[in-house]
Amino acid sequence: MDFNGNLLKKLTDTYSPSGNEERIRNIIKEEIKGYVDEIKIDALGNLIARKKGNDKKIMVAGHMDQIGYMIIDIDDKGFLRFTNVGGVSPHIALNQRVIFENGTVGIVHCEPVDDMGKLKLDKMFIDIGATSKEEANKKVSIGDICVYHTEYYEDENRVMSKCLDDRVGCYIMIEALKQLKETKNDIYLVFTVQEEIGLRGARTSAYGVNPDIGFALDVTGVGDTPKAKRMAVSLDNGAAIKVKDVSMIVHPKIKKLMTEVAKENNIKYQLEILEYGGTDAGAIHINREGVPSGVISVPTRYIHTSSEVVSKNDINDSIKLLMKLLEKEITL
Ligand code: CO
Ligand code: ZN
Repeated sequence: MDFNGNLLKKLTDTYSPSGNEERIRNIIKEEIKGYVDEIKIDALGNLIARKKGNDKKIMVAGHMDQIGYMIIDIDDKGFLRFTNVGGVSPHIALNQRVIFENGTVGIVHCEPVDDMGKLKLDKMFIDIGATSKEEANKKVSIGDICVYHTEYYEDENRVMSKCLDDRVGCYIMIEALKQLKETKNDIYLVFTVQEEIGLRGARTSAYGVNPDIGFALDVTGVGDTPKAKRMAVSLDNGAAIKVKDVSMIVHPKIKKLMTEVAKENNIKYQLEILEYGGTDAGAIHINREGVPSGVISVPTRYIHTSSEVVSKNDINDSIKLLMKLLEKEITL
């Protein structure tokens, strides 16, 4: 399977923090429009693309938003104080370059602190090179959000980039759609908003779509770095089929379906239990009267940092698994 690095780079380079997904939505819409029968955007901004069928209604969700930092105050010298949009920790933010929607670039730094282990966001600031409040205000405003500003990199095996969480999930959905053969299933690919701040787009879109079955595409942690927290997921061991995370326990029938489809098609997979975090499937599976749901996860190192790392092979295994699941006549 060819790896479409240009597309993944384009997706990860696009500025779209939670609640501000317009740019990435436009790019994805352009990318998929020739492959689906209907496209709509709901009131919260979810992009819902349907490939019509008259069998099971399957919703596949991947989130478009990314984590960021929102300006809450600007001081007299032009330094920006900020709060988090999504899960970030102070030591990960420290000394990172960030960029605002209008292209303004800054560096995150902190006041002198005795114990760096106790660093909090309220001791930190962003320096955008302004020398006064007035000058800073010409470039940015209270409420503006910045995101990590690092360059996409890939080699034969690896991709390193900001916001692979969850642009890699969007990439997998797009590539699976492009390669999808005829299927009876009624497929709804939903590119969701505001996942990083509480699975909000998945909640409303699941209500709207009202699927029989749900899948989410997202990243998961790994246990394969030096002295990592114990976790039986590693880079290059294949698509991770979720069993449990903080937001859900995967329906046993869905877990069985996913592992069987992987086996039938010789797709490398591993089982995933994540002890922190959740995905859009956490919202989908408790929609209305309940929706059996599962998750294909991409094993990812350094999640929510400016340089997340994934394996190209795992991505390709995930595309294949999603494609085969969508093609399958499903009886639960
Ligand atoms: Co995330
Ligand atoms: Zn995610």
